[in-house]
Amino acid sequence: MHLLYPSDPFDPQQPDETYRDEYTAALAEGLSASLFSFDDFEAGTFKARPAIPTGATVLYRGWMLTPENYARLVDCWQQRDLQAFTSVEQYRHCHHLPQWYPLLTEHTSETRVLEPDADFVDALGDLDWPGYFIKDYVKSLNTAGGSLVETPEQIQAVVDLMQQYRGQIEGGICVRKREDYREETEQRYFVFLGKAHAENGAVPSIVEDCARLIQSPFFSVDVVLRADGVLRIVELGDGQVSDRKTWPAMTFAKLLKAQP
Ligand SMILES: Nc1ncnc2c1ncn2[C@@H]1O[C@H](COP(=O)(O)OP(=O)(O)OP(=O)(O)O)[C@@H](O)[C@H]1O
Ligand SMILES: [Mg+2]
Repeated sequence: MHLLYPSDPFDPQQPDETYRDEYTAALAEGLSASLFSFDDFEAGTFKARPAIPTGATVLYRGWMLTPENYARLVDCWQQRDLQAFTSVEQYRHCHHLPQWYPLLTEHTSETRVLEPDADFVDALGDLDWPGYFIKDYVKSLNTAGGSLVETPEQIQAVVDLMQQYRGQIEGGICVRKREDYREETEQRYFVFLGKAHAENGAVPSIVEDCARLIQSPFFSVDVVLRADGVLRIVELGDGQVSDRKTWPAMTFAKLLKAQP
């Protein structure tokens, strides 16, 4: 397995600042890694430095990509006889909420998936949820008034702000039933090659369920305690583009080194 990180936009010899600690920790663990210019990739050219050994399996760690752009990146690898650690389908499976949601409905908040231009009041007016948490297929709105509203009538304004801030809605709109979370208890776990890892302490059984049910070699699972004491899944993410959150770089690098 060969790691691939974005380089610093001002210095192609260095990893982007966001990934510097992790890159250094990975090399210290004896993993091999290369850099590439994300800007050049977006402009249509891909070049890894140092060149990735032919036949290697590439694990990307970097900025989120739409599944279409991840497919373009995988194409660049395949043209150079490199394999993707995570296939495009596996990437989409954890990156887009409507893909993983049907497998985990009992562990996560009830969700309706709608077109970006849906009439939200018409589609949801008969629900009597205590609140509505709004995302596109990937991200909530964590600026302005946030993603949580009280009535379907208020959803359109959140979607308009998402559109305005991001320029695009990825996929469609996920409307999630509000649950009462103890936010300070949220923790990120990673599943790597079928094995679930905790930053510290035990892995909850809900995460073991994900390891069993989700067909991806590398993904994150965010778990939170609900006010009634039940553990809930907030979201999954593809491990290549997941933030480490509180995970120290060295702990994360050891996870990448671990073989099941
Ligand atoms: N159904 C829900 N009801 C109430 N609160 C929620 C719900 N879903 C998510 N939240 C809260 O909103 C936060 C962000 O949600 P989520 O992780 O799904 O979005 P995100 O855009 O990926 O945000 P982040 O980048 O912070 O992870 C969660 O940590 C949780 O506290
Ligand atoms: Mg999140």
